[in-house]
Amino acid sequence: MKIIGVDLGGTFTKIGLVDSNTGKIIKKKEIETMVELGGDAVVKRISEGINELVGSETYEAVGIGSPGSIDIENGIVRFSPNFPDWIDFPLGPKLSNLLNKKVYVENDANSFALGEKWFGAGKGKKHIIVLTLGTGVGGGIISHDILITGANGIGAELGHVIINPKGRLCGCGNYGCLEAYASATAIIKMAYEGRKKFPDSIIFKNDKVTAKAVFDAAKSNDRLGLIIRDEVVEALAVAIASFIHTFNPEVVIIGGGISKAGEFLFKPLKSRVNELVMPSFKNSFEIIQSPLVENASILGAASIVLQRRKTT
Ligand code: BGC
Ligand code: NA
Ligand code: ZN
Repeated sequence: MKIIGVDLGGTFTKIGLVDSNTGKIIKKKEIETMVELGGDAVVKRISEGINELVGSETYEAVGIGSPGSIDIENGIVRFSPNFPDWIDFPLGPKLSNLLNKKVYVENDANSFALGEKWFGAGKGKKHIIVLTLGTGVGGGIISHDILITGANGIGAELGHVIINPKGRLCGCGNYGCLEAYASATAIIKMAYEGRKKFPDSIIFKNDKVTAKAVFDAAKSNDRLGLIIRDEVVEALAVAIASFIHTFNPEVVIIGGGISKAGEFLFKPLKSRVNELVMPSFKNSFEIIQSPLVENASILGAASIVLQRRKTT
């Protein structure tokens, strides 16, 4: 069976045609999301993107991973911190109308968790925590082999776990969320805040500051880069230690653009988490970079379709 997987991101949207039997992406493309154009225009861009990608091929349904709180039964985005205008936005029905296909919507990070479970590092595992570090910070929990979403289906907002109530302002309106420390958005903000004290930091050698530039700078021992890296690691470690205490996962899988910092992020993170957990939890878990790399989000979105098939 062929399925379209769409990863709707704050900046870019990835679309893939997926063979669900092999878990292989037959072809894929990336478009700019252009949230500023408004919801309807974004949906139209996605439908055009799908049609262009598919060409003369056929596919059965579309799975779309969207940031925010999703009414999964009706495909409605109820609230999304990084898409401020999307209040009760009927993403699924609108896309379904344009394409004349079934469209399944799920939270992007929840679908990422399913993707890892079906095709990635979660294969054969029953207790998985995922975090996606991008424009926002997403979370997904698979516990006892079940995707945990709670009473209203909007659960596992691990990026909005508050790690410091007196801390940095988050896009959701609260203070001190994990996302306010470990998202690309936060990292870029921290860099600009540090500019006064470290005007010569190599982070600023290009006009535009990116999260990648911050980590690259840290890798070459840039002071500000290292300070920010340490802040990100500490925030993630505090949050992950609590997730480990709560769910006793076999593995914590981290994806999203920032995970590409690789061992430079993962090594200090693993050792800090091990310091923070209780003795009985020490070394009971792995913390790894998503092995699906760039494809995780597309496969995750496609796996929404598989998951819904299985349960309905
Ligand atoms: C949203 C989540 C989403 C994450 C990653 C967060 O700001 O609240 O729903 O999963 O960003 O896109
Ligand atoms: Na989630
Ligand atoms: Zn928040």
